[in-house]
This record gives sequence, C-alpha cells and structure tokens, in this order.
Amino acid sequence: MPDVIMPRFGSNSGQPTTRRDGIAKVTGTATFAADNHPDRMLHAVYAPATIARGRVTALDTEAALAHPGVVAVYTPWNRPPLAGDPDAKPFMFAFRFEALQSDEVRYANQPVAFVVAESLEAATEGARLLKPQYEAQPARVGLDGNAPFKPKGDAPFGLPRDVEHGDVAAGHAAADQALDATYETAENYHNAMESHCLVAEWKDGKLELDIPTQAVVLTRGAYAYYFGIAPGDITIRSPYLGGGFGSKAIANGPQILAIMAARELGRPVKLMFRRDQMFGPTGHRGATRQRIRIGIDGDARMTVLDHESLATTSSFDDFIEPAAHASQGLYNAGALRSAFEAVRVDTGTPGPVRAPGEASGSAALESAMDEMAEKAGIDPLDFRLRNYAETEPGTGKPYSSKALRECYAEGAKRFGWEGRPLEPRRMQDADGKLVGWGMGTALFGAPMFAAEARATLLPDGTGLIETAAADMGQGAWTALAQIGADALGLPLDRVEFRSGHSDLPDGGVAGGSGHTATAGGALHAAGGDAVAKLAGIASADPDSPLFGTGNTGVVARDGWLVAEEDDSRRERFADIIARNGGAAVVGTGKAARPPEDAARHAMYSHGAVFAEVKVDPELFQVRVTRMVGAFAAGRIINPRLAESQLMGGMIWGISFALHEEALFDKRTGRIVNGDFAGYHIPVNADVTGLEVLTVHEDDPYVNPIGVKGVGEIGISGSVGAIANAIWHATGTRVRRFPIRIEDLLAGA
Ligand code: MOS
Repeated sequence: MPDVIMPRFGSNSGQPTTRRDGIAKVTGTATFAADNHPDRMLHAVYAPATIARGRVTALDTEAALAHPGVVAVYTPWNRPPLAGDPDAKPFMFAFRFEALQSDEVRYANQPVAFVVAESLEAATEGARLLKPQYEAQPARVGLDGNAPFKPKGDAPFGLPRDVEHGDVAAGHAAADQALDATYETAENYHNAMESHCLVAEWKDGKLELDIPTQAVVLTRGAYAYYFGIAPGDITIRSPYLGGGFGSKAIANGPQILAIMAARELGRPVKLMFRRDQMFGPTGHRGATRQRIRIGIDGDARMTVLDHESLATTSSFDDFIEPAAHASQGLYNAGALRSAFEAVRVDTGTPGPVRAPGEASGSAALESAMDEMAEKAGIDPLDFRLRNYAETEPGTGKPYSSKALRECYAEGAKRFGWEGRPLEPRRMQDADGKLVGWGMGTALFGAPMFAAEARATLLPDGTGLIETAAADMGQGAWTALAQIGADALGLPLDRVEFRSGHSDLPDGGVAGGSGHTATAGGALHAAGGDAVAKLAGIASADPDSPLFGTGNTGVVARDGWLVAEEDDSRRERFADIIARNGGAAVVGTGKAARPPEDAARHAMYSHGAVFAEVKVDPELFQVRVTRMVGAFAAGRIINPRLAESQLMGGMIWGISFALHEEALFDKRTGRIVNGDFAGYHIPVNADVTGLEVLTVHEDDPYVNPIGVKGVGEIGISGSVGAIANAIWHATGTRVRRFPIRIEDLLAGA
C-alpha cells in the first residue's frame, strides 16, 4: 500500500468560524477547573507573607485550628514530605515549587502556611488567625536593589545567552551618527481573568486534577515527579482556561500544597487564588533597563545595533526576561550585540509573560529606532526600510518567508502615514489636542513544540480528532478543529474534537505562539494517516469504485474519497467502512520541527504597527485614538480568531505602553497595587479604532501546514509605535514604560 497521501486544506480552514465553545461560555455552561465541586470537597487558602525577606518565626496554628470548620493547617514545620525535590527543576518550564520548603521568606505573598477547611470562609479566617511573626530583613526591590550579575546562559529556558555577530567595536567606530539611549520597563503581572486554581482528588492512590494548564501532559509529568507516582496514575482535566499568558505554562506555585493536603486528608481539596495572591508565586515579567546604541553611516544604514539588558529576577531561581534578543533577527546592522545582566531582588520568580523578551525588548528597540531616525532627519518607516534584512542578520540564513515589506506598505497605506510631518508638535485636532503618529516593527519567532494526535473515521461517516491541546480563550478549540476536519475531509460539524485531557495524545505546550502549528500539525498528520488508511482499504476492495486507485491519487472531500484524476470515481467513507468490517479507521500523527529545518531557515512572524495618539496639551492625558497593525504570519487558519489574537496583542501593547506597572513599597518590598483597582489594564474606553490586517504569506518551510503564530506578535511593535506617537505629539521622549502623565509634564 502506498504510504503517502498529503492531507489537504479543505473548506474549513480559512473560514472565520466563530468560537465553537462561545455559546457554552456566554451561557455559563462551560465548566472551568474551579467549577468542579466533588462530594466532601474542602477549601484551601494559602497564607501569604507580609514581608519580602526574612524568616517566619511563629504562626498561631492553634488559633487557626480552633476556628470552626478548619480541618488542617500546614506550615514549614509540619508539611508532609514530597517524593520529588520541590527545589529541583527536572524538566522544561519547571520552576521551584512553593511547598513550604523552609521558614525562609523570599518575597511578599510567598505562601507561609496553608489552611484547609470545610468552607472558603473558614479557611480564609483560619489563615487570618495565623498572625505570622517574622524576623525581617530589608527588602531588595527594583533594578538598583542589588548588584548585577551575568546569567550563566547554560539552561534551555530562562537564561538568555549573549549573542554577538560581526565586529561591534568597528561598527561603533564606523558610525557617522550615533544614538545611546537607555529605556526602562516595569514589572508586569499576567493577571489572567481566571486566577490560578485547582481541585485535587485522590482515588486509590491515583490523582485527579481539575486545573487550568497550558501544557496538559507536561503538567502531569511534573506532578508525577513530585508525588512519586506514574504519570499514568494522574488524570488532568483542563477543558477551558480563563487566560494563561505564560503563567499557566509552567508548573510552580502553592497548588502542590492542595494536592498534598488532599492526599493527607483523604478528601478533595480546592484552591483558588485571590486576585492579590496572583502577585507573587505565579510568575511575572521582570523589570528591565535597556541600553541601546545604534550607529549609522551617511545613508542611514546601521553600522551597529548594540543592545544591553539588565532585568530583575528572584533571589532563588532563574528566569531572566530576554529583552536584548529583540535586536537579533530584525534589522540589517553591520554588527549586532545582545548582552544580558540580571539583578536578584526579593520578588517571586519571573517567568514567561506574553511575548517574553520581545514585548520589553521591542519597546526599547522600536523607540530607539525612532530616535535614530529623528537624529538622521528621515522618516521612521524609511529608516526601517533602509535597514531591511533580506536574510537573518548575523546568521545570513534565508527566512522561511518574510512579507514584512508588504506589512509596512499595507499598514502605512491603511493608516495614511504618507505626509506625516517629521517634526513633532505639528498636528492638532479641532479640540486643540496634540496629535502624533508613530510606528514600530513587530517580530516574533515561529517555534514548534512536539505534539501527537489521533484522528478517527467512524463507521457513521463522522470523524473524531483528539489531542490534549489547551484553549485558553484564544480559540484553539476552533482553529485546531478546522485543521483536523480538513485533514479528514469532513465538514466541521461532523467532527468531534476532544481536547484538554491528559488521557489524550500529548498536544504539546500552548505557548510561544506555537500551539496552532504544533497541535495543528499533529492533527493534520493524524487526519492524513486516517484518510490514507481508508484509501488503502478502498483501493484493495474490488467492490469499491476506487478499486486499484492506490491511495496517493485519492483525496478526501466532504465525507467522500474521490479519485483525483476522475472524480466520478468516488465513494462515501461510511460505505467503504461498512463493506470492510465496519471498524473505525484510526490515524495517528506527530508534529515537531526537524532540527535541520530550523538550521536551514530563520522563521518569524512579522508585522508593522502604526499608532495615533491625542494628548491634552495641558494635562498630558494620552489617548490612543487609532492603531493599524499589519501582520504576516503564514497561513491564517481562521481570520476572525487570528485577528482577535493580533488585536489582543495590540491591546497588550497599549497596556504595556500606558498602564501596567507593579509598584513596590521600597520599605516593605510589598506590591502596593496588587489588584485590578490599582494595577491598571486598559478598559474598553482605552481601546478605540484598532484595525488589524493580515498579509498573505505562503510558507513552504515553516511546517507542513504553513502556519506561524499570531498569539504574541501583536504586542511587539505596538509599544514603540505608541511611545513614538507620543513623542511626535508632544516633542517629549519618555524612555520609561509605562509612560505616565508626570513624565510628560516633566518633559514639557
Ligand atoms: Mo506564552 S508567554 O508563550 O503563554
């Protein structure tokens, strides 16, 4: 039997299908992890440290235990042992767990005790009654809170390596004009709508978890390690996530304590973080200070792009925001350098936050590009085009595809960029508001992880596709089903998609903007395998119109197998199966990028973002009034969802540029705005006039389905575009994010 049949893209892909889980979500019937309330379930609350550094010396466990309804109190002194070392990091995306390892306090909101009770109210009151006593030391917060160190750069994740291409010193020396500017970005917290939570239940030594996770099978492996059981003895249900943004991709935090307590107490335990508890143990984006030096020759071509980044990390683990990497891969400078330092402060450990490195790095880089263009006296878009990279800078690798030029052109046209005055403070609206226009380039890598999938053609002519993918609101459950249905040659409404469960094939990690490529690639392969098997059966069946066709000349379309050469030779899936034993036909597939493909091509999504702001000339309130983002990201499986993702990214850009900032009380090391009242994110009134264009891009190399990512790239470019528009409106350069009224007042 010929073993090759290429699955096709049918009528499902490319359609702007609405989210298939939309009705379930808006009617409240979608069950999120914390909605599960098994019989006899207990509630847990963790007691957070109110100092940022020191030791817990006393906890009034007697008072807590005496409170009606409190069942157990776990502290550093009595917590049950774990099989695995919570300080170890034995697998990807692992960070130190918060398992009450010791009495040491290393950041505010670190769990210092864990209270389990019959009700949430009793657990909350029990935790309050603990009244921890401390031996406190002065907290170290902020970029100047401690001496910088050089990251070792030897871990696969979280420890960026310095990169240098070309002769950087010569590039500086050759410059006719130079920019040397330093930018700062704030600490950002993920703040998914659904806070971290889980419901844990042990049944006969086996663990069942309802937990939102961006990586179902990876999470299962993590808990198997810590509890010393086989991964197969853990069931994880994660059908919906209320946002993840990277914080639910990694296993960390005190959730492990709920699993421990459930085992100890022989009852299900639920833990759900309060909003303020999300500011500490579940990751964040470290603050950065970035120095960017650019040199240009007489034609405004870059002789050097030199990007140094200092970032905060915790005192006990390593994740360093890889901001300076944003300068690799984008502009064609004669020499390139990205260098990293970090400073240990008394916060929780940072982690990946939507567009890790790229968001913060692009904010600085795109601001610096604008400043350099200003110095050179040329249009900022023209400056970028003069430094357009035809091959990956530094490596010389060809891009698998790169429609950035088209993004610039289409975005600029839609926005109306032409005729923009070079000088700032030249535009005003009818109300006297200062008007400014700015732009930035967007870049994000197009990674793939490893994933597996199963696709089944059922005897009734319908299909079943299965992979443990994660839909955190981005629409994976819809876009992936479109890919799977096409691969099976069936309309979407005749395909069932099972996802978000650890019994299914590993759908990989929903992160790095690679989930559609990864899980979608596996589904595509699995569907193709099922169709090939069915075609093999038909070809060998003398009663089939497809007898003898071999399976390479056959396509699956709308529930039929059809001979490509002669489409009068066709037969329904169900009829082929019925005549050949009646058993379902099961296909399997895998996706992962072969290392040789990654070695041959540089793979990125690209985009261009244009922003208009209006600024009150006296109060310096800033409004983003218009943004156009044009993006090229390979094949767009679902334009509605892709545009929604890209727009979401641009809103993150508004947030990064103007709103988000965790503020620390330097005396205590505590975050003073750890809630949605004080930690600002954009609301509808902050978001107007956003437009997303996608630019057609065929990519034959990135993966068999030609899909790049759209999840994170929207932030990149947007922050710089807004900052540059603010300069263009006001003439004030603010090199600190978020940009605040007081910064503009100071510059006026
Ligand atoms: Mo992400 S920060 O790749 O969820």
